[in-house]
Amino acid sequence: MRVPSFLSVSSYCPRRGLPVAAALAMLLGVVRAGAASPPDAIDSGTVWFDRDGRPVNAHGGGMLFHDGTYYWYGEIKQGQTTLPDYNASWGGTRVPFVGVSCYSSTDLVHWKSEGNVLPVDPVVNDLRSDRVVERPKVVYNAKTGRFVMWVHIDSGDYKEAKTGVAVASSARGPFRYLGAIRPNAGVFPEDMPEPMRREFETARQDNLMEAWVQKHPEWRTWARDFSAGQMARDTGLFVDDDGTAYQFYASEENAVLHVSRLSADYLSHTGKYRRITFDSREAPTPFKWKGRYYLVTSGCTGWMPNSSRIHSADAIFGEWKNHGSFFAGDTGAASVSYLSQPAFVAALDNHRLLFMADRWNKDDLEDSRYVWLPVDGSSVIPCVEWRQVWAMRKLLSSSAPGGAASKLSAVTP
Ligand code: DGJ
Repeated sequence: MRVPSFLSVSSYCPRRGLPVAAALAMLLGVVRAGAASPPDAIDSGTVWFDRDGRPVNAHGGGMLFHDGTYYWYGEIKQGQTTLPDYNASWGGTRVPFVGVSCYSSTDLVHWKSEGNVLPVDPVVNDLRSDRVVERPKVVYNAKTGRFVMWVHIDSGDYKEAKTGVAVASSARGPFRYLGAIRPNAGVFPEDMPEPMRREFETARQDNLMEAWVQKHPEWRTWARDFSAGQMARDTGLFVDDDGTAYQFYASEENAVLHVSRLSADYLSHTGKYRRITFDSREAPTPFKWKGRYYLVTSGCTGWMPNSSRIHSADAIFGEWKNHGSFFAGDTGAASVSYLSQPAFVAALDNHRLLFMADRWNKDDLEDSRYVWLPVDGSSVIPCVEWRQVWAMRKLLSSSAPGGAASKLSAVTP
């Protein structure tokens, strides 16, 4: 696989990636880590089965730990994959929307299907089968006792770029859909330079924003979605230790990632938001580790894999720094994230971190697989090293090196 040179960035992870040939052989199943996998094995890229013997169908997902149980939510990819004419130019293959799945487990290996918790609904516009409903993330609001799901809602051509919210009184659903929006309409971001903010505020009052943009074309991105609200595609959720929730989403035609503070009930946006990365990142997966905020992202190459990167900040509304590859090495297969795209970083009950990613099959989306890896939290910057087969039991029984991450329920959806 040819790797574009712009994807090669340095990595803080100490180890080197596998050479391409070895990695691809392994990914194709030529080399396996032993004939028989232990019963608690995580074997990335193979088909995972639930307790009923059906393939686990939970893509672009997220994890919630609640009352001693892990819940894994994800997109149900089911049915024939097609490439609509309107997406042909960029390879945007699709399956009909069927719903959002939920699975439960206490050992992160054996998963019980809890069913379809946000099913297709022909009378709800956003939940019709022709809609895009992707990357569901669920958090628990301790104040309201409700489970809140935020999800990317879109038209089949991805032009609507909205975020939708649903609520449930049980982690097992069903979720009641409340609607979708482009967030933060009529509000400028926190990071807008002060002189520009003053001029825009004045122009806004006089209905002269378009005139200002023509005078300063470089300001267009700041003004473009001001009235209609910000575009919101790939989404990630994060609940800080104080219970405040934030949504990360790919905005401005995926060129810029935003972070936005949610209301106390987690059901709406507060108008406080910031633009945090500017180099076309998506699949934002936030987490907190040793008091610092991290974000793993992918590049924007549709269903095709690319280099996952890790960013960090000392405050959510602070300056976010790109540290380069999240995968050890960033050469060969590491530079395409071992054919995966980030979905979620889960802080486990023992404070260890689990990286969850999708290995998409763009020609048969139902046959997409999962890549799960333990995060090395002892590195200067957290990172992942490739392992084909590894024991979840060991990750669950080991203690966190050099400090603890916040609990899953207080860190990630
Ligand atoms: C990349 C996104 O991360 C996925 O969730 C999905 O929207 C694909 N693009 C569609 O091509």
